[in-house]
Amino acid sequence: MDLVYRPRRLRRTAPIRGMVRETELSPRQLIYPIFVTEGKSVRDPIDSMPGQFRLSADEIVRECEELYSLGVGAVNLFGFSAVKDEVATKSYDPEGLVQNAIREIKGAVPDMCVQTDVALDPYTTHGHDGLVIDGEIVNDESVEVLCKMALSHAEAGVDWIAPSDMMDGRVGAIRKALDVQGFSHVGILAYSAKYASCFYGPFRGALQSAPSGHKKTYQMDPANAREAMREIALDLEEGADVVMIKPALAYLDVITRVREAFDAPIAAYNVSGEYAMVVSAAEKGLLDRDQAMMEMLTSIKRAGADMILTYFAKDAAAILRADFGSFK
Ligand code: PBG
Repeated sequence: MDLVYRPRRLRRTAPIRGMVRETELSPRQLIYPIFVTEGKSVRDPIDSMPGQFRLSADEIVRECEELYSLGVGAVNLFGFSAVKDEVATKSYDPEGLVQNAIREIKGAVPDMCVQTDVALDPYTTHGHDGLVIDGEIVNDESVEVLCKMALSHAEAGVDWIAPSDMMDGRVGAIRKALDVQGFSHVGILAYSAKYASCFYGPFRGALQSAPSGHKKTYQMDPANAREAMREIALDLEEGADVVMIKPALAYLDVITRVREAFDAPIAAYNVSGEYAMVVSAAEKGLLDRDQAMMEMLTSIKRAGADMILTYFAKDAAAILRADFGSFK
């Protein structure tokens, strides 16, 4: 055959493949989500997410030390609150679970970038991200509580607030509340294009936060990509530092569209259902866990995400560390 361009020439050896590789993962751009629970020395396994645990603050500190030494510099905290009520009182308790965990991490690993999920669902009996009044998930009243929650995290020393509630106007309101109280250095990683997805199922199991009804009146319709662009633009106007697309795998096209249209840093959330699918298929011997994990994370990066929230952060970082300087 008389071929001028033979693509296989650049696939012959591992060093050659390495030189033309277009996408590299780095532990530095992985963010590990952690579930905070009460007590001491508690590592409570999460049935719906094999390999993940609800951890007490002292265990989280140990986890952060390990993550940091692997090059993972960021964690995202969720409270597993046993105390729930109609109005999410515990969400803004200065001595609450998440607030205390922030202080403990900052005391032990000061440079760890501590991020916190801001939404009311772990703290409400109805499991919604906002307040429910007369059967409706109300917007502006919810935003007031979210601002209180964000401020309590800022007072505890958080680096980035991550509002995941999808209420209108919350990024601007939180930005203002932080600035007025002297927290202009605290960043906002906005869950900007967050879809009403079944892939959050295992997470809701972990936090016992399954909602009564559904979240479709505030989370986005999975069919919409143009709407994601408007949500992203809106959150950036309101002061978001980083915008997020969530989930990741069924929404890679959205990540790419956002990457092409905006210069802001982009995060993608490789959510609990995406994690559970790989882990359970691997447990059954249907997939190679590590290869599936790395291929998935690489695809999210290739689509255009800068940083990835993933329950695989520690495992992927360990593999990346071992691979660094060798040829694959
Ligand atoms: C809460 C929240 C959810 C997730 C992150 N923050 C669940 C939901 O919106 O119902 C999902 C994370 C995951 O599935 O890994 N607002």
